This record gives sequence, structure tokens and C-alpha cells, in this order.
Amino acid sequence: MSIHGKTFVTKAKHMLHGGDYNPDQWLDRPDILADDLHLMKLSHSNTFSVGIFAWSTLEPKEGVYHFEWLDDIFENIHKIGGNIILATPSGARPAWLSQKYPEVLRVDENRVKQLHGGRHNHCFTSEVYRKKTQQINRLLAKRYGNHPALLMWHISNEYSGECHCEKCQEAFRDWLKSTYNNDLDALNKAWWTSFWSHTYTDWSQIESPSPIGEKGVHGLNLDWRRFVTDQTISFFENEIVPLKELTPEIPITTNFMADTFDLIPFQALDYSKFAKHLDVISWDAYPAWHNDWESTADLAMKVGFINDLYRSLKQQPFLLMESTPSKVNWHDVNKAKRPGMHLLSSMQMIAHGSDSILYFQWRKSRGSSEKFHGAVVDHDNSPNNRVFQDVSEVGGTLEKLAPVVGTNRTSEVAILFDWENHWALGDAQGFGMKSKRYPQTLQQHYRTFWERDIPVDVITKEQNFSAYRLLIVPMLYLASEETIARLKSYVAHGGTLVMTYISGIVNEHDLTYTGGWPKDLQDIFGMRPLETDTLYPSDRNYVTYQDKTYPIKDYATIIELESAQAEGFYKEDFYAKLPAVTSHSYKGGKAYYIGARLDDEFHRDFYSRLMTDLSLTSVLPVNHGPGVSVQARRDTVTDYVFVMNFTEEKQTVTIQSEVQDLVTKENVPAEFTLKPYEVKILVYSKSNK
Ligand code: GAL
Repeated sequence: MSIHGKTFVTKAKHMLHGGDYNPDQWLDRPDILADDLHLMKLSHSNTFSVGIFAWSTLEPKEGVYHFEWLDDIFENIHKIGGNIILATPSGARPAWLSQKYPEVLRVDENRVKQLHGGRHNHCFTSEVYRKKTQQINRLLAKRYGNHPALLMWHISNEYSGECHCEKCQEAFRDWLKSTYNNDLDALNKAWWTSFWSHTYTDWSQIESPSPIGEKGVHGLNLDWRRFVTDQTISFFENEIVPLKELTPEIPITTNFMADTFDLIPFQALDYSKFAKHLDVISWDAYPAWHNDWESTADLAMKVGFINDLYRSLKQQPFLLMESTPSKVNWHDVNKAKRPGMHLLSSMQMIAHGSDSILYFQWRKSRGSSEKFHGAVVDHDNSPNNRVFQDVSEVGGTLEKLAPVVGTNRTSEVAILFDWENHWALGDAQGFGMKSKRYPQTLQQHYRTFWERDIPVDVITKEQNFSAYRLLIVPMLYLASEETIARLKSYVAHGGTLVMTYISGIVNEHDLTYTGGWPKDLQDIFGMRPLETDTLYPSDRNYVTYQDKTYPIKDYATIIELESAQAEGFYKEDFYAKLPAVTSHSYKGGKAYYIGARLDDEFHRDFYSRLMTDLSLTSVLPVNHGPGVSVQARRDTVTDYVFVMNFTEEKQTVTIQSEVQDLVTKENVPAEFTLKPYEVKILVYSKSNK
């Protein structure tokens, strides 16, 4: 539904606050379950993800079901005005299921069959597991589909991993047959299998990549990863059949992940494909705040980047499905959030497009591996501790943020991230084995815009490029002819494109282009990269650009100009004085090529020129020091501007004129101070913009 340019991803018109709730761990403690309801209200929590790992409680024996406890949970949460995000329980299965149907157990890449235990470890192909999950999902949908507390479906939990059992091998071969139109010769060519005499003469010889078998055929690796994504989605699609049938109005999500330390996209699944099957994107964020290797602002920039990617997957608000109110239990050092950080980090998620702050977990377990993981309710069962108070503060603030729900962000700048490229570049045995750092390179480009408060979408290759004035495509090593043609058309129609070293090298099969750089790229950029030099960390070279000199590291491309203009030049080595940065007008647009890995200072200067040329503006005319981030959610009538201090010092911020604070409803003067970790949310309605 859309009102004033808002897109509501759930039927709730308020921010969701709450989290994973596991009453199935406490069924013998009615006193605790009663306390939960009281504490939920006290902490301003309204939404609970229930049943994620409850299969053995729901179906303790095959075909014997116990739903009464869940009926009570639904009723009780409904009575306090709460919502339920109901999970399908496939993320972990009962022991009886593994014992009776061993085909559900995964086989790892070494072809070792796993024992029962852990979670997120079932075979995605197993007919039995598919049947069993559909059965229980159907019962859940029948029983709770019409319950007024049901807000949405949470399918499984953090889908991940791969299975190499015989059923998966067969499914992979079928996938290949359909992808290559039953033409084994075409597959052999696409995978370049004549190398090391690896030509297949029968489909049955093909096995998934394995350390005890084949790992060096890059086309195989790439297709296997594509298959794993498709097979995971196929499993998911099977799970949701009864839900679509019985509860077509209830939105469906599954929780995505990110690498926790670098906040780079989860690598194993192509979320750009998965996103098309979901109604709402949700993800689990566990940044290591207050760590000892980067500043708070550096980490905040990365959190911004990953949020802008996951939001851009559907170009609509998303949900923060899990986060910790204090600390996790699985970092090397599990540090507590310092006072102020919980509110600040939560508001940052909202600023980048989340319509929820949900936690793992509501109540700390007493036993097993997560008994020390942060939770809203600690073992003391008390609302008086610091964490509970922090959570209540966030809950209270979110209640004031109802007008922000459903608003989106607008960006004139996009950075392109591609999962297939990430896989292929990771596989590439060449360049610097440790220095490719593809997603980190994207973050480096993103940083300049984050520092200048210019909103960015992080998009994938199928998305509409023409919506952006500036498109930044770093290190697109794998670029199909189709993608290159789309980039060409983008520039021809007036777009400004920035590409870098190690781009346009292999096609969608991970086969290099022959005869030099693809002709279409040469047309766009008016130059040709001839050679990519890889540098040792101790090597020193520089690029001079606009009268300044910048150090380079890792990569330097030697460029031959055609019709492009050289803008920057190498200073040292056998390519001294040769072009390192070029620009070229192509039809209606312009294309820049950055041949070397340059530093933040270069990016600031380089993009500053483009910001001026393209009149790219920050969300608000505002002055502040480094480490303050200004981000906006907007609809057609109002901008909600989040001003966030990601530093440990006081910061002075100057805006054009006084404006209202959404939370306190007081007027904020044109110059104000933010305390360390403080956030203010300013309201600009069309009339005072
Ligand atoms: C998530 C998972 C949760 C919980 C959490 C701990 O990855 O979905 O169930 O284990 O991590 O941080």
C-alpha cells in the first residue's frame, strides 16, 4: 500500500520493536512467561518472532503435534497489542527426523555425511525434508493464518550452506543440463575443461567442487554457486507453497546475513536473486561496536553501506530482524555497547531504511551455547538493568517515529555490487591473492559520499541504471556482454560512469575476453587497459592528479589512450608519466576510469569534482565535523533527517534555520551540539524545506 510516497512492507503502521522470542524454552515456567508479557509492555516492545527453532516442541514425535502452547502465546501477545512474526521451523530439525530419514543430513564438500546436531544443516534437495517442512508449514498456516496477531512469515532462519550428497549431485547435473540445453560440449567449452585434460564425456562424471576432487575449474565453481543459490531458493519456494495458498495477504521474508566484521554482503548466496522471491527484505546485523581496529565512524560507514545494499535490493524499507541490545557471544571479545550506542546504532538502521529494531533475543536462555548472548531480559529477570533500560529507551523513541514508517530514501548516486563477480574474483588466481578486497573497495568509494551526506543506493546489475546521475562500478572483473551493453547505453543516454582497474576481464562463464578489452568498453572509455601491475605492500608509487600527488597500492593499470583524456599520471616505475586516470565523453554521457587503487584523499578530491559537475547535494545543507553522519528518509511531503554523532567527542552542527525535533517536538536551533553518540531526528515538511 502506498500513501504520500510511502511503502508499507507490513500491515503495521508503527515501527516494529521486539525480537526472537523462544517461549518453547520456558514452557515449564509459567511465571517466566507471565513476566515476559509484563516486560514486553514495559520495554515498548510490540513484535516477536516466534517458533524459529521450535520444531521439536511443535512435533515431538512424527505426526504428533502440540500447538496449545503456541495458541497461548498468540493469544497473550495479541492481548497486549503485539504482533507475531511466525517462523517456519526448518532451520533446525528434531532428532527423530534425522534418525528416521538420514537423507535429510547434509554431506560436506569432503563427502562426509554429517551427524544430527547443530542447525542450518539440512539437505536442500531431500524430498523427505521438503515434504516434512511443507507439512508443518501447512499446519501452522491453517492454525494461525487468520489470527489477528500474525504480521508476517519468517521462513526458516539464515539460509546458508551447501550439501554434496548424491541427490544434490543429481540435481546439480539436471540444473547443468537445463542451463546448457543438454549440450555437454557447450559445457566443456564454457568451463574450459580441456585444461589439464578435464573434459567430461558424460554428465555423470560431473561432481560438485571438492578439496578431494575438482576445485580448479572456475566455470564449475561459478555454476555450483549459482546452483546452490537456486537450490536454496527452490527449497524456500517449496516451504512457502501452503503459506501462499492459505495466507496470501501475509508478507513473507527470510533473514539475510552479512559478514560481521567487515559488514560486507553474505557471500554464499546471491541475494539479488533471492530478493525477487521475498515480499520484504530483512537482515541480521551484528557490528562489533567499540572494537580496537577501527574508529566508530569507520564502522558506521560500513553499516551504512550494507544497509544501502539490502534496502536497494527491493528499493523499499526493510526490517532489521536481529541485532543485539548489548553484546553477542561469538566475537573474540564480546564487548557491551557503551551508553548511547544502542539508541544511536538503532537509529542508524532506521535512517538507512529499516522499519524495525528487532533483537536476538528477547530472553537469555539458561543453557547451551547462547546463554551469554545479549538479550532484552537477562538472567536477573529484571527491568532495572542498563540493557533493559536502553532497550526501553529505543522502544519509546520508536513510538515517536511512526510517521517515518514506510518512507524511503532517494539517491542520485549508485554503486554496483555483483555477487557473481564477488565469487569469480575470489576464485581468480592472479592479481594479489589477498588484496582483491572487492566489497571493501566498494566501501572505499561509498565512504566519500557518506562523509558528505550524499545518499547512495548500492545496486545490482539487473537494476535500472538510468535512475542515477552517477554510477560507480569498481572492480567489475566479471562483466557479461549484456552488462557491458547496459553500461554503454547508460552512458550514451547521459549517465556518468566510473569504473576501475580489474574490470571487464571475464564473461559470465569466467572466460577471459580475447583480443583486448571488450570493444564496447573501449567505446565508452576511449582507452584500453593494457596491463595490470600488482604491487607488494612495500612498493611505493604515486599518481599525480589536479596538481596533487596521491599514493597508490596493490594495483596499477597501464593504459593506452585512444580518444580519452588523461587526468592523472603515474609518477614512478616503468609506467611513470603514463595515464592512470582518464575521462571520456561518450554520446550524451561521460566515463571515468581509475586505473590504480588510490587512497581516501584521492576519492574525496575526485568525487568532489563530480559532485560539483553533477550538482549532487547532501540531504541537507549542514556543517559538521568528521564522524557525524546525516541521512534522510523521505516521502512526498516530509524529510526526516537523522543527524548522528559517531564519535566519542561533542560535535557542533550548523543547519540553515531552526527546525523541529521529531522525538522531543522541541525546536532545534540552527547551531546545536551533539553529545558523544547522540542522535537527533529533524523534521522538514515541504513547507519549510
Ligand atoms: C544469528 C542467528 C540467531 C542467533 C544469533 C546470535 O545468526 O540467526 O539464531 O544465533 O545469530 O548472534
